[in-house]
Amino acid sequence: MTPSDVKATLSFSDGSPSMELPIYKGTIGPEVIDIRKLYGQTGKFTYDPGFLSTASCNSAITYIDGDKGELLYRGYPIEQLAVNCDFLETCHLLLYGELPNSDQKSDFVNRVTHHTMVNEQMHFFLRGFRRDAHPMAVMTGLVGALSAFYHDSTDINNAEHRDIAAIRLIAKMPTLVAMAYKYSVGQPFIYPKNDLSYAGNFMRMMFATPCEDFTVSPVIERALDRIFILHADHEQNASTSTVRLCGSSGTNPFAAIAAGVACLWGPAHGGANEAALNMLEDIQKMGGVEKIGEFIAQVKDKSSNVKLMGFGHRVYKNYDPRAKLMRETCHEVLSELGLHNDPLFKLAMALEKIALEDDYFVARKLYPNVDFYSGIVQRAIGIPTSLFTANFALARTVGWIAQLNEMIADPEYKIGRPRQLFSGAAPRMVKPIGER
Ligand code: CMC
Repeated sequence: MTPSDVKATLSFSDGSPSMELPIYKGTIGPEVIDIRKLYGQTGKFTYDPGFLSTASCNSAITYIDGDKGELLYRGYPIEQLAVNCDFLETCHLLLYGELPNSDQKSDFVNRVTHHTMVNEQMHFFLRGFRRDAHPMAVMTGLVGALSAFYHDSTDINNAEHRDIAAIRLIAKMPTLVAMAYKYSVGQPFIYPKNDLSYAGNFMRMMFATPCEDFTVSPVIERALDRIFILHADHEQNASTSTVRLCGSSGTNPFAAIAAGVACLWGPAHGGANEAALNMLEDIQKMGGVEKIGEFIAQVKDKSSNVKLMGFGHRVYKNYDPRAKLMRETCHEVLSELGLHNDPLFKLAMALEKIALEDDYFVARKLYPNVDFYSGIVQRAIGIPTSLFTANFALARTVGWIAQLNEMIADPEYKIGRPRQLFSGAAPRMVKPIGER
């Protein structure tokens, strides 16, 4: 951390002594005021629910400038990574800090590829779920259960364990998501195939059956790979902060990532892609494009609690650069599959246009986010809506594990322990039951 020449002074109107607070500069982005000694010196906490102004850690992985609509992984713009690199190169970059050269790439791909199978016993564990269980319920369980199967990579204080856990998680997530899907439709599990790409292997495990050959369309393989790249990391979002907080207790990496999966499930976060698609289907049932006006009126009515899912972002207040790339992919995939006239897609485009011109959304800087388009792409590829968030989890696993490993290697890391403003009852006496 580079100290700034400027210092902040905190003064109090009741005459209590003021306090000088150091300020640190990042490489880019806002400076931070170091309040670590605040409580010790003043007996006061800061209050920042939702972390609107709080940097929870020092990280060198991902940078977002929400006003400019900029997203960098280790300094590289997402637009360049999405066009010039594949997902496993992006994983190498996030985990180790640099894009691989060709030898490093083949070594990394080889390591990931040779860890894609899961312990056969996992099949029995999965069979304990109801067939209609939500895939994210299944994934939370399966990822947590990995810690019961891979005992030689659970010591978070051992750098080798952390590395092998990272490789295992990246390698096994597609296998687990595909298993969750196959189980839900009653088809046999398809084992990974080592001569396929990461995305191609996932498509095969999802859609092949033992009865016939399966070929993956290169356009679809590339689209899926791009979905993975765009979702690979996103700074200190809710699920990543969950993984860091969970891992800060020293728990094993599989348990920490399972906590991330659970957090991602929520509709305000990763669950938005599923929620956006369900919303489009609901509008379609109401009468389609004709009913957009009525739906938008509901969204604007605060008492309705209806949100335009797939719109808005805590950090991006200009546009979401991932959405721009995903929108491009969306058009490519729909033309490849001849689905441009698909009524749901037409509805999505009409909704996007109206929302982008409407004062309510313009004034609040609400733009389509990545999940608005990723759901449409996944649906076109044949992925069921309920599996969208599991695919997001698959892609985000590398970000979670890179952030977790960065935290553990940081000499300044401590168990996360937020404090509170207590507004409950002051001490009082327990009355005998007859007097209550
Ligand atoms: N539809 C309608 N109104 C909205 C929406 C929306 N999608 N998003 C925000 N608003 C309104 C909100 O009601 C508030 O209005 P007012 O100022 O009149 O009270 C204003 O815009 C500011 O919103 P906020 O809730 O203070 O913003 P936030 O930063 O706390 O929330 C968000 C960000 C992403 C949770 C929210 O925009 C949202 O719920 N969007 C829909 C869900 C979604 O698409 N989430 C995916 C995010 S991208 C994927 C990921 O990284 O997980």
